[in-house]
Amino acid sequence: MKVVVTKDYTEMCKLASRIFAAEITLKPDCVLGLATGSTPVGMYKELVQMYNEHRVDFSHVKTVNLDEYAGLSGDNDQSYRYFMNHNLFDHINIDKANTNVPNGTAADLQAECERYEQVVAGMGGVDIQLLGIGNNGHIAFNEPCEEFPEKTHVVDLTQNTIEANARFFSSMDEVPKKALTMGIGTIMKAKKIVLLANGPKKAQTIYDTVYGPITPKVPASILRLHPDVTIFVDEEAGALLKK
Ligand code: F6R
Repeated sequence: MKVVVTKDYTEMCKLASRIFAAEITLKPDCVLGLATGSTPVGMYKELVQMYNEHRVDFSHVKTVNLDEYAGLSGDNDQSYRYFMNHNLFDHINIDKANTNVPNGTAADLQAECERYEQVVAGMGGVDIQLLGIGNNGHIAFNEPCEEFPEKTHVVDLTQNTIEANARFFSSMDEVPKKALTMGIGTIMKAKKIVLLANGPKKAQTIYDTVYGPITPKVPASILRLHPDVTIFVDEEAGALLKK
């Protein structure tokens, strides 16, 4: 695991966007694993800017997102499909048919998880996976638990995550309580992983991820067993690493 401490959020986003752009240049039809949340917004802006400057071409790129809230359709402005369209896909030359987000309104959520797992496998796996991290160490919506979940599954969000995500909704009651998420096994199969974290609220979980025991109680800690992981943190999220 490589850890890069950047001066600030802007530098973190610039460095991470260059890694994704390089992947696309080397393999124009690569499969990008993408994340939502506040953390990757700056990186997506950088990629849009690089596209506008003709420095990256998304026409053959395929994407799979990590997760989606159960019960929210893609036109709901809190859904992760909406987020991806709004922050990235609507601004680049990607074919939306090549972009995948779990369907949060599927009648049978379990069947949707199985379908999604097949979608990822059918694309030949993820070439480079972007991750954020929850304050509690979750990656995608794999919450702290007793065993690492392997495949795409339906998850009950923890109170900690519901409270953290309430900032995007008009009230806590509106935050969905369930989500569909890639499993830890699905994520660990990606050829490369880039995790981004910024701000003081992430400092303890970044410390636990890098130095603590490898345990499903800190889901991100398993990344230490992956052969190609780079963690980018700004100085605040990396503050405890220096002690
Ligand atoms: C989002 C996701 C989540 C977020 C995490 C951090 O697709 O999978 O694991 O990466 O909750 O969210 P932010 O970036 O909002 O702090």
